[in-house]
Amino acid sequence: MCGIVGYLGKKSAVPLILDSLRTLEYRGYDSAGIAFLDDDNLFHIYKAAGKLVNLESVLPDSTPLKSGSHIGIGHIRWATHGAANEINAHPHHGGHQEIALVHNGIIENYFEIKQELEAKGRNFISDTDTECIAQLLEQLTSEMPSDTPEQFRVVIQATLNKLVGAYALSIINKKFPNHLFAIRNHAPLVIGKGENEYLVASDAVAIISHTQELLFLKDKEIAEITPEGIRLTRLDGTPIEAVLEHVELGPLQIDKKGFKHFMLKEIYEQPDVVRNSLSGRLVSAERPIRLLPGEPKDSLKKQTLDTILKYMDRIVIVGCGTSFNAGLVGKYFIEEMVSVPVEVESAGEYRYRKPIISDKTLIVAISQSGETADTLEAVRRAAKLGGKILTITNREDSSLARESDIVLPVRAGVEISVCATKSFTAQIIVFYLLGLAMAEMRQTASESQIKELKTGLLKTPALIEAALSNPEPVQAVAKQYGNAANVLFIARGINFPVALEGALKLKEISYIHAEGYSGSELKHGPIAMLDESIPVISVLVPGVVFEKMISNCQEAKARDAQMIGITSAVIDSQKAESTFDDLLQIPESLELLSPLIATVPLQLLAYYMAEYLGKDVDQPRNLAKSVTVE
Ligand code: AGP
Repeated sequence: MCGIVGYLGKKSAVPLILDSLRTLEYRGYDSAGIAFLDDDNLFHIYKAAGKLVNLESVLPDSTPLKSGSHIGIGHIRWATHGAANEINAHPHHGGHQEIALVHNGIIENYFEIKQELEAKGRNFISDTDTECIAQLLEQLTSEMPSDTPEQFRVVIQATLNKLVGAYALSIINKKFPNHLFAIRNHAPLVIGKGENEYLVASDAVAIISHTQELLFLKDKEIAEITPEGIRLTRLDGTPIEAVLEHVELGPLQIDKKGFKHFMLKEIYEQPDVVRNSLSGRLVSAERPIRLLPGEPKDSLKKQTLDTILKYMDRIVIVGCGTSFNAGLVGKYFIEEMVSVPVEVESAGEYRYRKPIISDKTLIVAISQSGETADTLEAVRRAAKLGGKILTITNREDSSLARESDIVLPVRAGVEISVCATKSFTAQIIVFYLLGLAMAEMRQTASESQIKELKTGLLKTPALIEAALSNPEPVQAVAKQYGNAANVLFIARGINFPVALEGALKLKEISYIHAEGYSGSELKHGPIAMLDESIPVISVLVPGVVFEKMISNCQEAKARDAQMIGITSAVIDSQKAESTFDDLLQIPESLELLSPLIATVPLQLLAYYMAEYLGKDVDQPRNLAKSVTVE
């Protein structure tokens, strides 16, 4: 949610900042901007509404852009306050083009600050909350001594002390062309130290191709970066040692590998993602699950994990969006296998409730990015109350991972498409492994059931491959129902979360109104909406709720809804014809593992519907991949 970049070094700042911003576009694409000082110490700011390419097209082809600037900051925006236009684009300055800053986060008391500053005669030009930081900073430089970097630093501290909210900031000041400032408070920020250069970014992937020596800022830390090094202090000025870590993180592969969109590529990567996620953890049906392969047997982490697996008597899963849906699959599975109560909580709600936590409560945080603000805060709240935190994430270098007792990486590989697909599948795999490992430790399931599930999991990549091998029927359905205004998804049991996920995928990228329901819930309200204009997509696999789902589908069919079934069952042709208008067949798997397979046609359906409607599949409007504001 907004991406910020800063550079100080010997290379040409502008192209480098643009390259780094390109890797951050998953965080927002409402507008982009850049500010830099050229070698004559002149200030330049360029901005454009829309994607980064628009900014690139307004940049003049002049020397400072290519070689004459060695300090600058850049931003890509996901709008919170103020429309997605050029005026509201960052960087913002205080009116005199002397100090510029880029911001990720939300300033909650911006209105009060703005009123105060306007009363002092300052003119605001944008509708953003961010401008109040720039204006305040400039105002305070006129009220306080600010002729040396040290004094300017004190002005920054005074500014920050007036702000309420979340911010990651990078600041440049015309007076100090060798000083780049970086500040973090509830929004991620990392500093990289390269050879004769420093880079600042919202995400390590943006700078990892330049350096692997990274400093992950903590909340309320201010870094003053000069060619001589990083001076790190707390908000009150107390010095802290700047400790860099060597981080091994592959450079971001931005390659569609021949697919039209990243989303489609990522859907097709799922068989390999499952293999990767299982690798070393589930080797054969006969061997016990190892959640932390490669960890020494007596390590502290291993002991913590053993405690979690053996003794926790209640589990609370917190997450948002697709991760929340994956958590629901986790709940169904763990309760079935371990008989421990599992609650799944929307992190944005949980963080403001009064959580009931004992020393035997395990908090499972689920997040692809590991940076979702609500999930992070929910975990912080729970940790303060004594909960043990286990995080399931695709980013081991994320803030969430850093604040957890145990991290189980999902190993999905970098996911570029805003619409999550392969990370959902990988998250579910980790929940299966967690449930099985707990069941093995506690002996809460029979050996034969555990073995059967392990065998089933090992077969999953091949089943997903089979589900992906024939997209034509899904394409036909997508085309047939692509003009629907409303779509309902229904399922029951462990596939209920799949219905929620199918609806979320469709809404996100096609902007068609869609809702997921348990088949049993239809008659408690949503059935009133049904008529021949509404497609109802039903997931039904053989097992406990199969016949119930058939009845729910017939109830909907009786109200003239367009019925699309997704099933692994061989349904009697007469029954099928009288219930469904279209039937999409998926490979058969164990009922408990079927979400891994049933999700695939729903991802494809959302993709082909959006594609049919000509939508921006990988960067849907109003969304961002990493939601770092609450
Ligand atoms: C998924 O397609 C969405 N883009 C969104 O719901 C996402 O799952 C949610 O914002 C949570 O993100 P996280 O997994 O990175 O925490």
